[in-house]
Amino acid sequence: MHLSESTFREIRDYIYEKSGIFIADTKKYLIDNRLSRVLQEKNLTSFEEYLRIIKYSSNGTELSRLFDAVTTNETYFYREPHQLTVLVEEIIPEVIRSLHAAQSVKIWSAACSTGEEPYTISIMLMEKPTLPKRIQMFASDLSQGVLESAKKAIFSSYSVRNAPPQHLKRYFSIRGQDHVLNEEVRKSVRFMRANLMDNRELKQLRGMDIILCRNVLIYFDARSKQRAVSNLYDNLNPGGYLIIGSSESLHNVTRAFRPVVINRVIAYQKVQR
Ligand SMILES: C[S@@+](CC[C@H](N)C(=O)[O-])C[C@H]1O[C@@H](n2cnc3c(N)ncnc32)[C@H](O)[C@@H]1O
Repeated sequence: MHLSESTFREIRDYIYEKSGIFIADTKKYLIDNRLSRVLQEKNLTSFEEYLRIIKYSSNGTELSRLFDAVTTNETYFYREPHQLTVLVEEIIPEVIRSLHAAQSVKIWSAACSTGEEPYTISIMLMEKPTLPKRIQMFASDLSQGVLESAKKAIFSSYSVRNAPPQHLKRYFSIRGQDHVLNEEVRKSVRFMRANLMDNRELKQLRGMDIILCRNVLIYFDARSKQRAVSNLYDNLNPGGYLIIGSSESLHNVTRAFRPVVINRVIAYQKVQR
């Protein structure tokens, strides 16, 4: 099956419009490889036919399968642990102090992939029994496939390679080659599908105190970054924090946040109004 330049551009533009993910001309091979598999599964004979199906199918299944195919879902437990330590040791306690006794802290992992990020935070919080237990953890992603995997909570040794051995022992059981997360941690996170480009879908996640959006802005161009960050801003409470990947920056993206440096970690605070 041949992917022509013009069909590649149409597919690429459609993905961009729906997800904000920008695929450069030089990445044609990527679309070719990943979508050839989808075409085979569906017994389709051309990319043109596939394009028609994703554009005109009324249920969201085809679009969802397209997102599963084109997103990069690399993640692992205890990724960029310095940021997570600052989150658990400094930011969460500060947010707890700023809230009324009856309020809980709402944390959202906004592009959680297969769940390692929110689950790591839950484990780190369980390791801090002195913290009040008023924490609600939400996690979302564009891809339905990764969310299903996140809910199953069965991980490869590669995914847990950075986990401290005592945490592995305490929170996982071994099944063959896999690490199965225990029920308490699994139940501590609520997963849902949400597209960072879609303000309406994000309404279900309003009123957050802390948002993690790590290692996803890199797949967006400047316009999509602005759109996503502005949506995240709307979903944060005044005084709340946004944490992006340590190699990412909001420079030239927005001035709505105040960068705060805590133990060499930059967090972006929504200025109180
Ligand atoms: C590389 S993973 C990052 C996972 C985790 N945050 C981490 O840092 O390890 C990027 C995730 O962003 C998701 N993603 C891409 N575009 C998105 C969008 N428009 N809305 C929500 N999630 C999106 C992908 O499906 C993928 O799971």
